Amino acid sequence: MEVQAIKQRFGIIGTSPLLERAIDIARQVSPTDLTVLISGESGVGKEAFPKIIHHLSARKHGPYIAVNCGAIPEGTIDSELFGHEKGSFTGAHEARKGYFEVVDTGTIFLDEIAELPLSTQVRLLRVLETGEFFKVGSSKVIKTNVRVVAATNVDIPIAIGEGKFREDLYYRLNTVPIKVPPLKSRKEDIHLLFRKFASDFAEKYRMPALHLTENAIRLLINYRWPGNVRQLKNITEQISIIEKKREITADLLAKYLPESQYRDLPVLYRRDSDNKEISERDLLYKVLFDMKKDIHDLKHVVGEILQNEGVSKDIQKSNAQLIEKLYHNIETVGESAKEIHLDKGSDDHLIEPIQESEIVEESLSIQDKEIDLIKRALAKHNGKRKNAAKELGISERTLYRKIKEYEII
Ligand SMILES: Nc1ncnc2c1ncn2[C@@H]1O[C@H](COP(=O)(O)OP(=O)(O)OP(=O)(O)O)[C@@H](O)[C@H]1O
Ligand SMILES: [Mg+2]
Repeated sequence: MEVQAIKQRFGIIGTSPLLERAIDIARQVSPTDLTVLISGESGVGKEAFPKIIHHLSARKHGPYIAVNCGAIPEGTIDSELFGHEKGSFTGAHEARKGYFEVVDTGTIFLDEIAELPLSTQVRLLRVLETGEFFKVGSSKVIKTNVRVVAATNVDIPIAIGEGKFREDLYYRLNTVPIKVPPLKSRKEDIHLLFRKFASDFAEKYRMPALHLTENAIRLLINYRWPGNVRQLKNITEQISIIEKKREITADLLAKYLPESQYRDLPVLYRRDSDNKEISERDLLYKVLFDMKKDIHDLKHVVGEILQNEGVSKDIQKSNAQLIEKLYHNIETVGESAKEIHLDKGSDDHLIEPIQESEIVEESLSIQDKEIDLIKRALAKHNGKRKNAAKELGISERTLYRKIKEYEII
């Protein structure tokens, strides 16, 4: 199959020689049983490659399983991959087959391979070298015929230096390396991808597609895209939904590109410490803005309650001071609990008028909040899960699991 046909079949957009070279290597290596390691920054599009390799191989009718090594708790990963015997650990009520047994004659995609615990790395090396493994709690050798494709956004030589990844496993996995280039190294694909995503979202949300002015295209192409294609896709979706205008100017686009306003400054001004200051200030503004909005909403809700004759009097009496504080200058509060009559229109000074479009039905579900927070943390860190997890105060592993569970892209 030609590279062009592969792109079409697997929905890969882009004409950059670096991307086409990566696809071509996948095409050439697919009929072999060689182990492939796909590396590249987060969001570059690694996930299409193991599928290409499997579907163009003689194993295409065999099983294909994608396993996110970062999403499985450390305590159960050996059992998930290699299976276990009944009673091999507390809670192992039944024997269980692992992925390496289930996927016999097929392909297993080990995503986020750098997240594998060292002890599991030993087991993996063994199965790669001999095609044999043991279930947890068993000494019986099981043979399997599995092709392994792995992916990582971690610089594995650095992980080796830090003692987190076994060098022997790295060399074994890296028989054929495929490097998926970052978006900033394939500038010719950026506008192409934007147009494709804009048209997909236009269809999804049933609205005309966005298009960019000349200056906006220039800004789009020269932005450094730390979150790569995932970030471009997310931003295109955000703009599609949020902006009413369909013609997007550079100024408008710049609002969606973190740090884009600094793109023309000398490198000196882009030091990490400066970026940190900027993002902390932005964060502070955001917190203040959110607080202001909460107070605004709260005033509105309380105002509504106070207008309800039935419950109003009791609430007013028992919360007189708070009501005064919310609706008046605290200095003017009288001694006694005084009644406040809030008539829309005549007492507009008591409640700021609220535009209808500002009243957002807010979900109070903890799960929705969690999803929202995860999305916000990922957006803030341009899809870098490590940093997002740090900010959220959870482990990377937990974050991986939640992203998978809630199907957050
Ligand atoms: N060339 C491309 N054409 C179309 N869509 C793409 C392309 N590259 C990436 N995407 C889309 O971008 C998103 C991110 O890609 P993907 O999930 O493959 O990233 P990744 O390299 O696996 O990142 P991570 O290391 O964070 O897992 C996906 O929605 C994917 O469909
Ligand atoms: Mg991935």
